[in-house]
Amino acid sequence: MFLEINNLNKQFQTKNGTLIVLKDINMLIAQGEFICAVGASGSGKSTLLRQIAGLDRPTSGEVMIDGKPITGPGPDRGMVFQHYTLYPWMSVQENAEFGLKLQGVPKKERREQASYYLNVVGLTQFAKALPKELSGGMKQRVAIARALASEPKVLLMDEPFGALDVHTKEAMHEFMLDLWRRTNITIFMITHDVEEAVFLSNRIYALGARPGTVRKEMLINLPNRSHTVKRHSTFHDYRDELMDLLRLHGQEAVALAA
Ligand SMILES: Nc1ncnc2c1ncn2[C@@H]1O[C@H](COP(=O)(O)OP(=O)(O)OP(=O)(O)O)[C@@H](O)[C@H]1O
Ligand SMILES: [Mg+2]
Repeated sequence: MFLEINNLNKQFQTKNGTLIVLKDINMLIAQGEFICAVGASGSGKSTLLRQIAGLDRPTSGEVMIDGKPITGPGPDRGMVFQHYTLYPWMSVQENAEFGLKLQGVPKKERREQASYYLNVVGLTQFAKALPKELSGGMKQRVAIARALASEPKVLLMDEPFGALDVHTKEAMHEFMLDLWRRTNITIFMITHDVEEAVFLSNRIYALGARPGTVRKEMLINLPNRSHTVKRHSTFHDYRDELMDLLRLHGQEAVALAA
């Protein structure tokens, strides 16, 4: 398997004692899948992504990529976060090159590589622009180009469209599906948006909260992936099933609201 999460547990020591955030997480992801992990706020989604990114270490268990345990960040994993993480004083081109610069890629090569991916995300004409001249969706496309420029094996996305209005979000969904088809990259995205998950992924992990666990794995087989599919009964069935799975129960709801 390409990406494996084996018996992962994550706890934090807080002033109120030990907080168990992720419990016995197991996931197997094949190359080329588009996976969404869906859970309520506080279910440990970002914490899970940080373990895969290698930004943090599990309390127990492990994450493997291509058969090797993850021990830290690496160019095989590209990250895109919810909030725009572009440097405001750098041009779009410089932002897109930034990851490569950190890796010590020579100037000419990184310019070519970043230009290629700015073209993939449709922003060639904005290469010289500053982030403040871009819309929210465009900024996220720069962040995606920056992540892709290192040619990672997997794109890790933490609620990348959470801050966008509904129309821009729809456009970004179309864009992501197109990108996925063209590049065949593996995508692991976390979101709390149920419709987003059903529309984009081929498989979903529904997460329970307090502690974060995998409640169910759902294979998504839609008749097509155009926006009209959202009116299809198959889409509604998946959405309703996922909503029911994510519904918070008793103590969980009390703990999360606290
Ligand atoms: N470094 C830390 N120290 C202590 N507690 C932490 C730490 N990081 C996360 N937590 C706790 O872990 C829980 C899960 O947080 P996390 O950010 O992973 O949730 P999430 O599912 O991404 O939520 P959201 O949808 O709001 O982004 C929260 O209760 C949070 O307070
Ligand atoms: Mg989060």
